[in-house]
Amino acid sequence: MHELEVTLSELVHNIIPNAEAIRISKTGADVVSAAVRVARAYTGRNKVLCCGYHGWHDWYIAVTSRNAGIPMQVQELSATFDYNNIQSVKDALDADTACVVLEPFVFEAPKNNFLKELKELCDANGTLLVFDEMWTGFRIAVGGAQEYFDVTPHLACYSKAFANGMPISLLTGRRDIMQLFEQDVFFFTTFGGETLSLAAAVATIHEMIDKNVPTYLAEKGKLLKDGYNTIAESLGISQLTKCIGYDCRSMVTFDASAGNPLEVKSYVQQEMIKRGVLWSGFHNMCFSHTDEDINYTLEAYKEVLALLKAAIENGGVTALLKGQPVEAVFRKVSNFNMKPVVKA
Ligand SMILES: Cc1ncc(COP(=O)(O)O)c(C=O)c1O
Repeated sequence: MHELEVTLSELVHNIIPNAEAIRISKTGADVVSAAVRVARAYTGRNKVLCCGYHGWHDWYIAVTSRNAGIPMQVQELSATFDYNNIQSVKDALDADTACVVLEPFVFEAPKNNFLKELKELCDANGTLLVFDEMWTGFRIAVGGAQEYFDVTPHLACYSKAFANGMPISLLTGRRDIMQLFEQDVFFFTTFGGETLSLAAAVATIHEMIDKNVPTYLAEKGKLLKDGYNTIAESLGISQLTKCIGYDCRSMVTFDASAGNPLEVKSYVQQEMIKRGVLWSGFHNMCFSHTDEDINYTLEAYKEVLALLKAAIENGGVTALLKGQPVEAVFRKVSNFNMKPVVKA
């Protein structure tokens, strides 16, 4: 074990509210699956409820439309619930539910104290709450969504940006739960202690704290999000397209009245790429984005949204597409695999 593991762990322990103990690994899927495994071991239960995307491993992909190759016995142990619908969680929770795993937010904000209620519900049911903070961590606040919303999950998972692109992930959690990794629960991967990524993580986290990166992301992201909506309004198409979400991570949406949303998105993508903006519908703000980048992107949006308006007025975008439209990764993305477990 290299001393950088300790340096990183101490740093994270001081930043992330639930980080009484920390495990380090390589990928996002690694740590969410480790969270599920330790939750099962801690509770002695089998079922998992989830909401969001959590990587390629069996327990999660079981709930998607791409679940070929996953044994039915595994599929039967995972189910989904609806974000911001506490009743859908109540309906699905039972005495065999080990954990509830979710991204604290994706684009929609939690409503009616959803996250707090979820924590209370989990506590009352003896179920562990796991925040998948792959996106929210270090972005909405340095301490992640758990700091921002003041809800402390039993376990939380981090990866993606906190080492500025180097492959590393973290599982943080309550000490008595995490202690199971010391003997009963196995979680190890050969390159888990790889030092270049550890050094990158330590350097990046210091940079994020020193430069108050979450505030920067919110400021620049707001310029882009508000700028987009202002352009749509000035063109009179704000009913057809909007930029929604949090300032640090927003998404462009298209109403079905603008045409098939995937085709409309493909058209906007095609025209944005022509103007030098590698675009896939999201604004994932980063510290390297400057005002100049924002202004450049907004200028491109001005042209492209005017083209979109004209296309819609002239019969739609379909004939203007130069290639195949983009497709969804999963055929079903919400309200699927809801399995309110039949209670005895
Ligand atoms: C919220 C969330 N969880 C888990 C993962 C899986 O991470 P990885 O691809 O590093 O295994 C991702 C990756 O996109 C993600 O966005």
